[in-house]
Order: sequence, then structure tokens, then C-alpha cells
Amino acid sequence: MTRSDNDTWDLASSVGATATMVAAGRARASRSDNRLIADRFAEPLVRAVGVDFFTRWATGELDPAEVDVADAPWGMQRMTDSMTARTHYFDRFFAEATAAGIRQAVILASGLDARAYRLSWPSDMTLFEIDQPKVLEFKSATLAALGAQPTVELRMAPVDLRYDWPAALRQAGFDPAKPTAWSAEGLLAFLPPPAQDRLLDTITALSSDSSRFVADIFWNSPDGREALTAAARKWYEHGLDVSLDDLGYPGHRNDVADYLTGLGWRVVNRILISQVLADNALPVPSVNGERGPAPDNYYCTAILPETSARSRK
Ligand SMILES: C[S@@+](CC[C@H](N)C(=O)[O-])C[C@H]1O[C@@H](n2cnc3c(N)ncnc32)[C@H](O)[C@@H]1O
Repeated sequence: MTRSDNDTWDLASSVGATATMVAAGRARASRSDNRLIADRFAEPLVRAVGVDFFTRWATGELDPAEVDVADAPWGMQRMTDSMTARTHYFDRFFAEATAAGIRQAVILASGLDARAYRLSWPSDMTLFEIDQPKVLEFKSATLAALGAQPTVELRMAPVDLRYDWPAALRQAGFDPAKPTAWSAEGLLAFLPPPAQDRLLDTITALSSDSSRFVADIFWNSPDGREALTAAARKWYEHGLDVSLDDLGYPGHRNDVADYLTGLGWRVVNRILISQVLADNALPVPSVNGERGPAPDNYYCTAILPETSARSRK
């Protein structure tokens, strides 16, 4: 499905379906004995969306040996392993941010992320979620119907991140004077390259000293996108009836870690995703013996130093 400037979606279509896909990965990972993540909301949320293929993945009905091409660089099992590593990494980011005293967080493109319901937060914490209106509405209605209660003061800002999103965030009660922990998980490649820069500019403008930021940088090269397209071809044969093709914006984009550095952030961790997989004893995809399909994909964590330290640079 080719993207257009004003496209919108729900959780069963276009970019929204990727939120259901990764939640299916978290559900599956939570069923395994990895002990790194436990997301008990992922499976019921995926079931509620009703994309049968993802539901069958989440519940364990589908066998990876049947769904994935053996030894391919991407597939449902690889995605599940990646979600294990990523969820664990981002959970730790929030734990470290709150341990450092941060009491305001913004989850950009929250999709079916249930951190607001499954993590334990300080009692004076406020958490904002931003995503497309249909995505946020569906998630909160489904969790409410399940009887789930947020474990934090949760505020929603339903808005498109390509355009003027700070107004919606402020309207939800965001306070730019407070240090903020920002996360952009599974988002950046779905933004046009100039919108990615604008997003980082805007986050910086809304961040007071000691704010923190985390993102995963994926599909840095065409190989990653092609690997998803190849894997999805197999999933369509197994009944996936939502197109996952052409959801990203190809073309040159600025390197996130370099761009943040240029804006005054101190990048405290730039770690290859393959390294995070290996560190967690998860399989690392390889192509002809080399780490693949996207060996340059990485997680980036940054802290905004005190203004005085920034102006001395
Ligand atoms: C791969 S999912 C990741 C969801 C969530 N962060 C997670 O890891 O489970 C991508 C998410 O980005 C959101 N998204 C992509 N582009 C967006 C935009 N322009 N405005 C708002 N949300 C967007 C989608 O709606 C979807 O929920």
C-alpha cells in the first residue's frame, strides 16, 4: 500500500497493521520462557483487532517452521525475537528515566503498547501517548472492556505526527518545563525523512534540561524493507489479508544519532540491534555468514544536558 500525505489508518490497515504485527510478536514472546518480557495485554489486544493471521501468531497456533522461510533474514520468529529485545530495552529506558527523577513521559506512536498498564510507575508520573485517533480509541476501549486500569496518570493525544502535534500534546496537559522521557519505538521509518527531522526538532524544542530520548533506527538501508516484503509474501500465503508492502518512506534520511548531537543532545548509547539480540542470547539473523539483513539498524538513547553545558559547547 503506497503512502500518501494525509493517509490515516486503523489497527487492521496500512501502518496501523504493523502495530498489531509487533503486538503479536510481544504476545508470542510473552508465551515463551524468555523471561525478558511479559506483556499480558498483547494477546487480547491482537485478538480484538481481528486480523486472523496475527491472532494465530499471537496465540501460538501458527508454527514458525510453516510460516517462515528457513534461515531467511526476516520472518515472524525473527520479528518476535526482535520484539523481545526491543521491549526489554525500552522498558529499561523508562525504568532508568524514572529512577533519575523524570516524571513525564511521551510515547510517540504508541500503537498497542501497554506500558501504561503493565509497568509500575511512580505515583506522581504522567504518561502521554500519541498515535492516530482510531488507534488510541481502539486500544483504550478494548483495555477498558477487559477491565484493565492504567498504572499511571495516562493522557492521550490523538494526532498525526507528520503535522502539528505539539498543540494536541499541550492540550492533553503536557508541560514543557518538566524533563521528559520520549520514546519513538517502531516509528521513524514510517515518517517521510523531512518529517523525521521536524519531529526531532520539535521534541528538542519541547524538552527541558535532563530530558531523555530513545528510538530504534530501522530500515536504514533498502535491505530491511526488502526482507519484510519477502517475508510477508509467505505470510500472505498463510492467510495474512493486510498488505505490509511499501509502508516506509525510502530515500536518504539524516542519521538520528548525528542529528540529535547537532541539536545539543548527548548520545549515551548507540547500539546495534544485532548486538542487543546477541546480548540477550537471541538469534542474530545472518546472510552469507554476515549479520543481516540490516546490520546498521540500531537503538539510540540520548540525554539533553543542562543548558549551561550545552551553551559551553
Ligand atoms: C510498528 S508500530 C509501533 C507501535 C508501538 N510503538 C509498538 O512498538 O508497539 C508503528 C506505529 O506508528 C504509528 N504511526 C506511524 N506514523 C504515524 C504518524 N504519522 N502519526 C501518528 N502515528 C503514527 C502507527 O499508527 C503505529 O501505531
